[in-house]
Amino acid sequence: MKGLILSGGAGTRLRPITHTSAKQLVPIANKPILFYGIEAMVAAGIVEIGIIISPETGGDIRDAVGDGSSFGASVTYLVQDAPLGLAHCVRIARDFLGDDEFVMYLGDNMLEQDLVSFVGEFTSRRATPELGRGTGPTAQILLAQVDDPRSFGVAEVTDEGNVVALVEKPDDPPSDLALVGVYLFDATIHEAVAGIEPSPRGELEITDAIQWLIDQGHEVAHDVLRGWWLDTGKKDPLLECNRLVLDTVDPRIDGSVDEDSRVEGRVVVEAGAQIVRSTVRGPAVIGADAVITDSYIGPYSSVADRCSVTNAELDHSVILADSSISNVARLTDSLIGSHVEVDRQAHVPAGLRLMLGDHSRVELEQ
Ligand code: TTP
Repeated sequence: MKGLILSGGAGTRLRPITHTSAKQLVPIANKPILFYGIEAMVAAGIVEIGIIISPETGGDIRDAVGDGSSFGASVTYLVQDAPLGLAHCVRIARDFLGDDEFVMYLGDNMLEQDLVSFVGEFTSRRATPELGRGTGPTAQILLAQVDDPRSFGVAEVTDEGNVVALVEKPDDPPSDLALVGVYLFDATIHEAVAGIEPSPRGELEITDAIQWLIDQGHEVAHDVLRGWWLDTGKKDPLLECNRLVLDTVDPRIDGSVDEDSRVEGRVVVEAGAQIVRSTVRGPAVIGADAVITDSYIGPYSSVADRCSVTNAELDHSVILADSSISNVARLTDSLIGSHVEVDRQAHVPAGLRLMLGDHSRVELEQ
């Protein structure tokens, strides 16, 4: 079985971060989101991985992932010139995939559950087709129960577990089962993606391709997700994901903590980081060569490599690499890009002096 990870796309919902960098490289607990997906594939024995990239951000993804050998995988990059839809990605990957079965994974999704049982069930359902409709499934989707299915792709499922219909963002949902960004396919999907037309929003939709399989009489199986799942393409789900993952990190102090500082709870301090006259209250991670001086780093904070935090307080926030935060109390629920400077100055006349990128968002306290 091969793997196909979708890491192209426009990333409009995470601007301005995605004006300059790939949303799949935004870190969760200081590790790029994309790496969790690659690791989940390798743990399920899938080591031949194709990654769909865009011309704009593909270079950064290549630099971060390399040839895949550091993950124990072999990675092939597939450039998608424009984000024309998830099913378009399958078309682009046709030669790479050949006639193999594959798992398709959205590069900005994170799951608590691993892929081992999901893949294992597909393999055993295909090996024992008499348990289903006699043919064995050509596809398997992952579904999650959600409170309000109207903003998701929603599946209608029979009592026997077969998917009979998929509807995008329905006003009157047929179930509370939403599509999660992980799919398993055999080579029949290539006929499906060749057989569909772009949707009204101009994309080749994977839901239309799966509906095509169903309409042609193919069996589409499903699995219901265990644990949490998040689409990290927006700020608040991304911060929530950071919280969930920080709750599971193994505490470790490889950097230096001076005697006037306190480090409490589940905290990682990477090599070369310095904690000076400060308190770090976990869960939190402090990246390599970061310097925290006269500051408070509160729960659910991820401070990336080479950041400096001076005379400041922050919590529930993700700070990307090489940024500096000074003289601020307190920064909360924030996502700060890389090479950003936030400072309070004693200039007169007093006032906010901002230089913000396009699509930035600032919420000032009262
Ligand atoms: P989405 O988050 O659905 O789309 P997007 O990246 O365009 O984001 P936004 O809505 O904020 O503009 O995409 C899910 C994943 O699939 C994400 O990792 C990007 C990737 N993708 C592609 O690689 N090619 C595509 O054509 C599309 C639509 C998405």
